[in-house]
Amino acid sequence: MALLEVSGVTKVYGLLRALDGVDLKVEAGSFHGLIGPNGSGKSTLLKSIAGAHYATTGTVRFDGQDITTAPPYQRSRAGLSFKFQITAVLNDLSVYDNVLLALQSMESNWALLRSRSRQRLDAEVMHALERFRLADRADDLAGELSHGEQQWLEIAMALAPRPKLLLLDEPTGGMSPEERRVTGELLAPIKSECSLIIVEHDLDFIKNICDRLTVLDQGRVLGDGTVAEIGRDARVQEIYTSRV
Ligand SMILES: Nc1ncnc2c1ncn2[C@@H]1O[C@H](COP(=O)(O)OP(=O)(O)O)[C@@H](O)[C@H]1O
Ligand SMILES: [Mg+2]
Repeated sequence: MALLEVSGVTKVYGLLRALDGVDLKVEAGSFHGLIGPNGSGKSTLLKSIAGAHYATTGTVRFDGQDITTAPPYQRSRAGLSFKFQITAVLNDLSVYDNVLLALQSMESNWALLRSRSRQRLDAEVMHALERFRLADRADDLAGELSHGEQQWLEIAMALAPRPKLLLLDEPTGGMSPEERRVTGELLAPIKSECSLIIVEHDLDFIKNICDRLTVLDQGRVLGDGTVAEIGRDARVQEIYTSRV
C-alpha cells in the first residue's frame, strides 16, 4: 500500500475546476515532484492533501487512514507536514524558538511541564537546526536571516516533528542558484526517514532530487512516471517548450 493515495480528487471554485479527477500515489521512501504550468493546480492539490481546504470530491488516504475530511492538526499527528509558498516564520522570535514552537505544538501540555521533555526538545531543536546549517544562528531573530535561510528554517520546522511525508510548495522560490543547489543537498539525506512531495519550477533541480514526477495541466494529470519516463514524454515537452 502506498503511503499517500489521492484518488479522483476534484476541487471546484465557483465555475472553475482547479483539480479535475486527480490521482496520485507516493510510496514510502520516495521523493515525488509535482510540476506543471502556473495555475495548473499544484498548490491546490498540496492544500487538499494538507487539509488547508477540502477536496470537493475524491478521497485522500494517508498511511492507511482516510483523511479526506480530517482537520489539519489530525493530519499533522498522523505524520504529514507542510510548508506553503508564503514564508511563515515568526520574525520577532529567535531561530531556536521558531523550531521549539513547531515541536511543542505536537506535545501535550502535560509533557511540556516535565523537565525531561524540555531537555529532549532542546536536543531535537538543535538537531533540526544543524541539519539545515542554522545551528550557529540559533540565538538570532528569524527576521535577521536571509530569504534563503528563512526557507531552510521553515523546512527545519516542518521536519522537526519527524513526519512521514513532507509537502513543500516552491521552497526555492527567490533563492540564488547557489542556495538552490545547497537546498537539494540538505534535502537528500532526509529520504531515509521521510517521503517528500515538492512543487518546483526549476526542472533541473527537481530531476536531480526526485524519483518520480507527476505533471499537472489545467487540473488534470498529464503524466506520471519516473524522471526518465517523464523526460521522454512528448506532451510534457510540448507544455514546457511552448507554454511555460
Ligand atoms: N481560493 C481560490 N479561489 C478561487 N480560485 C482559486 C483559488 N485558489 C486557486 N484558484 C485557481 O485555481 C487554479 C489553480 O491554482 P493553483 O493551485 O494555485 O495553481 P499552481 O499552484 O499550479 O500555480 C488557478 O486557476 C487559480 O486561479
Ligand atoms: Mg502554486
